[in-house]
Amino acid sequence: MTQHIGILTSGGDSPGLNAAIRGVGKACMAHYGMRLTGFRDGFRGLVENRTMPLGGEQLSGILTLGGTILGTSRDKPHKMPMDGEVRDLTEQIVANYHAHQLDALVCLGGGGTQKNALRLLRAGLNVVTLPKTIDNDVAMTDITFGFDTALGIATDAIDRLHSTAHSHHRIIVVEIMGHRAGWLALGAGIAGGADVILIPEIPYRVDDVAAAIRRRVEQGKPFSIVAVAEGAISREEHDALLAARALKKEGKKRVSLPQEPEIVYADRTLTLAKRLEALTGLEARVTILGHLQRGGTPSAADRILATRLGTAAADLIAARQYGVMVAARGEATRAVPLDEVAGKVKTVPPDHPWVASARRVGTSFGD
Ligand code: F6P
Repeated sequence: MTQHIGILTSGGDSPGLNAAIRGVGKACMAHYGMRLTGFRDGFRGLVENRTMPLGGEQLSGILTLGGTILGTSRDKPHKMPMDGEVRDLTEQIVANYHAHQLDALVCLGGGGTQKNALRLLRAGLNVVTLPKTIDNDVAMTDITFGFDTALGIATDAIDRLHSTAHSHHRIIVVEIMGHRAGWLALGAGIAGGADVILIPEIPYRVDDVAAAIRRRVEQGKPFSIVAVAEGAISREEHDALLAARALKKEGKKRVSLPQEPEIVYADRTLTLAKRLEALTGLEARVTILGHLQRGGTPSAADRILATRLGTAAADLIAARQYGVMVAARGEATRAVPLDEVAGKVKTVPPDHPWVASARRVGTSFGD
């Protein structure tokens, strides 16, 4: 019997999603003779039966396109806004999966998607996932698709900011995405030669950042580029967060928690720039790269990675191996059980070789 495969993209979009859809689709159809249906807008598409036929025509010409032809959303099966309330719609998804007579469902997404896919696996569905995100923070895979493209965009931005910072003798603080992980800021900071790199995994002291910038002035370099990850926090904020979380754990719920990093990203970066201006006497400007980092055509490396992982997903489905994420391991791929991935975040180890190399070329981490 012809196998019928469902496919959806969930979470923030990422360059390489269409290349991955094409990889899964072409391998499933042309190589294994399966049938494919796309579900639009993430898990919501499965709840509301928003489908899209995926055949040769739809899969043609999408390798180089940014975004996702399926649309995406951050909707979770068990907490989905519907008819004015937030509902657990897992059972609805299971019912629709069977109504469409699916044999398997491929979910393309980041950390949140891995958790949601595990829920559906536990609800009895045959699920296979692929790791996508510009943040590169999915556990158990060397890399996620989308990261390389975003790295290129952020690096190009830092290159361009250098000449204007240099001409005006300014500090330019450039905020780079990454959620709670510093991979993107670290990578782009190294590749773009940022003078200071601030990442969530290494809480910084503003005084130390200012001292690094003043040292550059003394060396005749009255300008600096500060690459700051959107989730980077100062040591004081970090300590306050830890203390508040500990109190909350003890059950003292009344304690007022400082805001979690993701709520106030841009505010924190603007405040940092103001403080650096005051501490160094140099003018400071802020550039927030934002969603530019997720837009546009995927890099060659992301197209290759997405195609590798997508076709490997088809191989797993053909072998009826479900409940796994297709991870990149060197030149090979590995099927990792979803319960080993879900709920974990791959952050930058503070002693990671990239950090060590950056320190050796004189980059400050503000610590
Ligand atoms: O996870 C990808 C990401 O781009 C993060 O780097 C960022 O924090 C977040 O998504 C932004 O989400 P949204 O597109 O919902 O604003």
